[in-house]
Amino acid sequence: MAEANAVRVGLLGFGTIGSNVYRVIEQEHDAILDLTGIDLRVAHIVEKDFSRAGVDAPAELFTDDFKRVLDDPAVSIVVELIGGTDWAFTFVEAALRGGRDVVTANKQLLANRGAGLFELAAQLGRQIRFEASVGGAIPVIKVMREGMIAADLHTVYGIVNGTTNYILTALYRGEGDYAETLKKAQELGYAEADPTADVGGGDAAAKMAILASIAFRTRVTMADVTYEGIQDVTLDDVQYAKDFGFVVKLIGAARLVDGRVNVRVHPALVPEGHLLASINGSYNAVYLRGHTIDEIMLTGPGAGGPPTATAVVSDIMNIVGTDSAGFLQNCSCRRDLDRFPDGEMRSAFFTRFKVEDRAGVLAQIASIFGDHDVSIESMIQKGQGDEAELMVITHPTVERGFFAAIEKVAALSCVKSRPATIRVL
Ligand SMILES: NC(=O)c1ccc[n+]([C@@H]2O[C@H](COP(=O)([O-])OP(=O)(O)OC[C@H]3O[C@@H](n4cnc5c(N)ncnc54)[C@H](OP(=O)(O)O)[C@@H]3O)[C@@H](O)[C@H]2O)c1
Repeated sequence: MAEANAVRVGLLGFGTIGSNVYRVIEQEHDAILDLTGIDLRVAHIVEKDFSRAGVDAPAELFTDDFKRVLDDPAVSIVVELIGGTDWAFTFVEAALRGGRDVVTANKQLLANRGAGLFELAAQLGRQIRFEASVGGAIPVIKVMREGMIAADLHTVYGIVNGTTNYILTALYRGEGDYAETLKKAQELGYAEADPTADVGGGDAAAKMAILASIAFRTRVTMADVTYEGIQDVTLDDVQYAKDFGFVVKLIGAARLVDGRVNVRVHPALVPEGHLLASINGSYNAVYLRGHTIDEIMLTGPGAGGPPTATAVVSDIMNIVGTDSAGFLQNCSCRRDLDRFPDGEMRSAFFTRFKVEDRAGVLAQIASIFGDHDVSIESMIQKGQGDEAELMVITHPTVERGFFAAIEKVAALSCVKSRPATIRVL
């Protein structure tokens, strides 16, 4: 066994985050020892790729056999940074059963298969910490669980995907169209070669499932989250929204409505004066509303090696500092809440479409909206020869009614393009 104040970590994965976690632990070793009396070291690195063995960390730490970690009684914490939901699940489960606490940055693992792991951790009196799974360096989970325990949270809005926020910011600034700004995001390393999870909203959905679970203390999984991405948002949408005084953002919205939970990710028009409108580029933000706190927003770098590694090391130290399973550990999902259906949610909408530029057209459209209880807040018409582009912002309305109205509008012979719709925050 290691000495009493020694804490030894088994690191799974030495990619972007894993290698930075190793570096932060080495660099901060003396400061952590000084502050806490804990001698923190990585004892093993489990990797498939040995190309950095002996370069960025001593070769003798590397192994491709997770059993070496489990067989080392000095290791008390396993840090999972391989990603995915298969091997990561197997390793985390084995670590818990082997009496280790776990730190992970893996949002997909927690949002899809977290329930079983948290249950197991609770049964075994172990901790799973996951601050880095949402918002990179932003300590949002710790703030919600500890600082907001009496805040009675009912709304969490998140800009939790840096790639899409980078693209939408570039569209707003007129730096190119969707394809051009996506390419730039890839060149800068924000977007993966396959950007589907980012631009399609899946990455943000997993993060919102985690945030909603913490905020409302009920289990929300990936299957509970309805999500859309930004693939259909055009430069025109963003620029027309700007004319109305709005910024388009990919918003994760988790709400507790009449005791029921609704969690969604979709593009939304955010008023220029709203706190979330100021979050630009690859930055992330989480905006919280509760009955006692009004509004609080946390913002910062949402990804990247060093920021995310800082959150992982902080989780390790939190485990050491809160040994044994207390109320702050694992998950706090103690409530069973019903789901609030998407169609019954109320939202204001921005919609735009091309119409024939002739008398009577507006009356037909207004009448359909009226029949579906959709009232118009403002409208702009821009003439383009025989056709005109019509842009409408509605008052908040029941979504099912709005979409039924849009289907009827789309079917009118005087409507010449499929209406584009974006919710207004
Ligand atoms: N990158 C970020 O900014 C960021 C931010 C927040 C959270 N995260 C999360 O952090 C985790 C790690 O992300 P990352 O960006 O560091 O990924 P990454 O660069 O791809 O690193 C993962 C490493 O784990 C290795 N690996 C995969 N499966 C393995 C297995 N079964 N056994 C041993 N090694 C294995 C990979 O090797 P191969 O390459 O050979 O497969 C790779 O070297 C993910 O869950 C991610 O969602 C990342």
